[in-house]
Formats: sequence, C-alpha cells, structure tokens
Amino acid sequence: MSDVSTYRFGLTLSLGLCLGMTVTAAPLDEALKPMPPVPPLDPAKVELGRQLFNEPRLSVNNTLSCASCHHLESGGADTKPFSLGFDGKPVEINTPSVFNASLNFKQFWNGRVDTLEAQVEQVVISPVEMGSDWKTVVQNLTALPAYQAAFKQTYPDGITAANVQNALATYERTLLTPNSRFDQYLLGNTEILTIQEKYGYQRFKDYGCIACHQGINIGGNMFQKFGVMGDYFKARGNPVESDLGRYLLTKDEEDRHVFKVPSLRNVAVTAPYFHDASARTLEEAVDVMFKYQLGRNPSQEDKDLIIQFLKTLTGEWLGKPL
Ligand code: HEC
Ligand code: HEC
Repeated sequence: MSDVSTYRFGLTLSLGLCLGMTVTAAPLDEALKPMPPVPPLDPAKVELGRQLFNEPRLSVNNTLSCASCHHLESGGADTKPFSLGFDGKPVEINTPSVFNASLNFKQFWNGRVDTLEAQVEQVVISPVEMGSDWKTVVQNLTALPAYQAAFKQTYPDGITAANVQNALATYERTLLTPNSRFDQYLLGNTEILTIQEKYGYQRFKDYGCIACHQGINIGGNMFQKFGVMGDYFKARGNPVESDLGRYLLTKDEEDRHVFKVPSLRNVAVTAPYFHDASARTLEEAVDVMFKYQLGRNPSQEDKDLIIQFLKTLTGEWLGKPL
C-alpha cells in the first residue's frame, strides 16, 4: 500500500511540476482536515471570558489565572515540564495547550470530562491547581462592580458558577490557530510545502502515525494506549498516579495507560512532550512514538522528514505565527 501511495504522490508531484502548477485552490481530500473557522459566538461573552482567563481571583490565594499556566504568547501551554499550582508546588502532569482544545472530543489527558465548561469547573477547585471553590469565586467576582455590570449585561442571571464557566469556554472556542502552512496546503495551495515536507507527510501516513493522529485537530479524537508495542512505563520507571490514564476513571484493566491522543497542531512550539513531559524535543518524542506506538525502527532520514512535516503544523493566533 505504501508503494502505491508513494507512486501516486510522485505522479501528482511530477505532473504538478510539468504543468508549472500554480495554486488551484481546490481543497485536497485527505484524512487530516483543515482548521474550521471560529464559530459564531456572542462577542460580549467572549470578552468576559478573555478577562476571566487572565483573572487571578479564580485561584484561592489570587496568584494564578488560567494564563499563568496556559501562555497564549507561547503555544498555549507552559514551557515548564510541570506548571506550578497556587501553592508553588508542581502539578503531576504536563500542561497541554488551550489552543484548539475546543476541537478535541474530550478534555484532559485521560479525557475525564466532555466539555470545556466541565474542564473549568474542575480546574478551579483542583487542590493542586487553583485550589478554590465556586462559592468563593462567585463571591469574589460579585464584589467587583465592573464584573457585576458586565455579567448583568451578558447573562440574565448575572454572576453564577455556570455563567463563569460558560464565558471562559466561549472565549476558549475562539482560541483556534488557523493558517498553518499545512492548512494552506490542505486548502489547495500545494506549492506552499517543500518537497521534504511533503515527503514527511507521506512518511507520517505510510508509517501509520495518522492512524492515531488524525481529523481536524490531527489528534484529539480517540483514546489509545501509551505503549502499544512495548512497556513504555517499565522502561521509564518512577510510576505516578497520572500514568494510569483512563484507568483512574474506569478501573478497567484495559484502560491502564490509555490516554487521549493529543493534537499535533502547533506541536513544534509546545515542548516538552507527553503527559509526563519526558521528551524535551520533537526528535525524542518521535523516537518514542516509533518505538512504543509503532514498533518500528526507521532511518534517520525518515524521522527528519516527519519532523519537518510536524513543523508545518504551526498556526497563527491574532494574525501572527505562534
Ligand atoms: C496550575 C496550572 C494550570 C492552571 C492555573 C490552569 N490549567 Fe488548564 N491545565 C493544566 C494541566 C496540568 C492540565 C492537564 C491536566 C490533566 O490532563 O489531568 C490542564 C488542562 C486544561 C485543558 C484541557 C486541554 C486538553 O486538550 O485536554 C483546558 C481546556 C484547560 N486546561 C483550560 C484551562 C482554563 C480555562 C483555566 C482557567 C480557568 C486553566 N486551564 C487553568 C494546568 C493549568
Ligand atoms: C497507536 C496510536 C499512536 C500512533 C501510531 C502514534 N501516536 Fe503519537 N501519540 C499517541 C498517544 C496516546 C500520545 C500521548 C502519550 C502520552 O503522553 O501519554 C502521543 C503523543 C505524541 C506526541 C507528543 C504530543 C504532545 O503534545 O505531547 C507526538 C509529537 C507524537 N505523538 C507524534 C507521533 C508521530 C510522529 C507518530 C508516527 C511516527 C505517532 N505519534 C504515532 C498515540 C499514537
């Protein structure tokens, strides 16, 4: 099968070169899909959510906002292996990006909630993250006339836990990063990628990365075991509770070490990698994937090509590349 698709790819490429192809802007029919547009949303809710995203009063000691751990100017994640909670102690699991999180089928590494609203509900009361409770948060926000006025205008019932969660989730639905070079390619601008990047995409498909990292978020649409082809956790050592993945929710042996397949959008700017932040570079992460998810030992050249492809997945936010 891989021969056929390489052949087809070669053919399209040489045809394109022969015809001196310019952009025909016909979307390509691929298993990876371009970023959808931001859905229509109430601008007042978005703005309220933006303020709340940067609001340290959501944490018990007014030290942490969402933006303290999810840096929007650098990939929407944290550059630290483990973010620090309100008490200054590191959390046990790597902080994923908030960018494009609305496109994931579930939230959190082990997918324990279905919606962005439910994610907010949990992070505010998490004893290792914001450490607060919803009664206190509502009281603290109600004490501020500016929030009172803004909520009253936007939600008929004013400041409630559900409305705070909804405003934050509404803002998060705007945090999409369109216009990556790969998206432009999918939309029909086939000349935007170099030959190496196109071969990298081909390798990504041929080796089967695409079996797990697929769809509009190039991931984020299924659960998979970390360590399909070998015992990653035994090799790594130092087991911690969060390594158990979905087992923590279901207590089903089948779910031990099962995680949501993460999105690979913007992956070049969200190091370190994996739920345990064990890979510092894309090179290390791709090596681990080959060994434990695919059981393959590819050439250095193929790995380099895949990494070049992964670097085309970086999109833009507010018109600037991430
Ligand atoms: C102390 C650092 C910290 C703070 C503060 C924080 N987060 Fe997170 N966030 C994390 C970590 C760590 C995870 C992963 C936890 C897990 O999967 O168990 C996460 C996960 C998420 C996810 C899930 C993404 C995905 O793809 O699964 C979203 C969405 C998110 N946070 C949004 C927010 C919002 C909104 C706020 C503010 C209300 C916030 N976070 C505050 C560290 C933080
Ligand atoms: C069998 C499913 C599967 C296959 C095949 C697979 N992956 Fe993954 N990938 C995962 C899962 C699950 C994770 C999350 C592991 C964790 O951290 O718990 C992941 C994580 C990653 C990460 C880290 C993302 C981050 O933000 O931390 C990268 C990069 C990655 N994969 C690239 C690849 C590449 C490249 C290939 C092909 C060589 C590949 N994957 C093949 C399931 C898969």
